[in-house]
Amino acid sequence: MTSLFVSGSGTGVGKTFVTAILINEIRRAGKECSALKPVISGFDEDNADESDTGVILGALGRDVTRNSVDEISPWRFREPLSPDMAAAYEGRSLCTKEIAHFCRTNSEPDSIRIIEGVGGVMVPLTNEETVLDLMVEVGVPVLLVVGSYLGTLSHTLTALQAVQDRGLTVAGIVISESLDNPVALSETQATLSRFAGEVPVIALPRLDSPGDDPGTPAIATEIGLL
Ligand SMILES: Nc1ncnc2c1ncn2[C@@H]1O[C@H](COP(=O)(O)OP(=O)(O)OP(=O)(O)O)[C@@H](O)[C@H]1O
Ligand SMILES: [Mg+2]
Repeated sequence: MTSLFVSGSGTGVGKTFVTAILINEIRRAGKECSALKPVISGFDEDNADESDTGVILGALGRDVTRNSVDEISPWRFREPLSPDMAAAYEGRSLCTKEIAHFCRTNSEPDSIRIIEGVGGVMVPLTNEETVLDLMVEVGVPVLLVVGSYLGTLSHTLTALQAVQDRGLTVAGIVISESLDNPVALSETQATLSRFAGEVPVIALPRLDSPGDDPGTPAIATEIGLL
């Protein structure tokens, strides 16, 4: 199994959008693909179709049912808060090792697995651990999704350093164009590339959908996943 952990510089930057692009690209290449969104906050059981889990199941060509939702997103919380807080609201807590175990199991040997994290690289999962600790425990390459808003350079390079300092491979950085975009995407890409060393930096313009827009970059190919 080949796996990729999709994280980002923060919440709402485009992780799910990029996850759906990756799934589409892998499936179009005729490869088996599985995807997980193990922890999701702000989840409304009555609107599961519109959740990250629903979008991911849609990209996989699967129906959104109680079973399929359980299968890819076992840790769901109602409050749209950091996972530790959202869990505490329900009198629950998360166990990083248990989530990591879930991320590593139940996959076909030949398939490619995409795991969408939650929030940014250092959002707390528990009182002591963040998503970064989970990524270390899972131990697969990380794709960083970031925005193109004013301030993204520092956020992105900080996230990049934090992940690399823990010994993880960063497979690539995808700049998903923000609604508020002060400079040309290509300029942000050029600047980040200068600081990112060997890590490929991919520019993703705003698209109507993560489906089959001809302007979609071949992200999986560019990061060597295919
Ligand atoms: N390149 C893009 N083109 C068009 N829309 C985009 C793009 N990137 C992100 N979006 C839209 O921006 C919104 C936030 O993106 P998305 O849900 O992928 O972020 P996220 O990082 O997964 O957020 P969360 O932290 O909640 O998981 C969504 O409505 C998504 O469709
Ligand atoms: Mg998401």
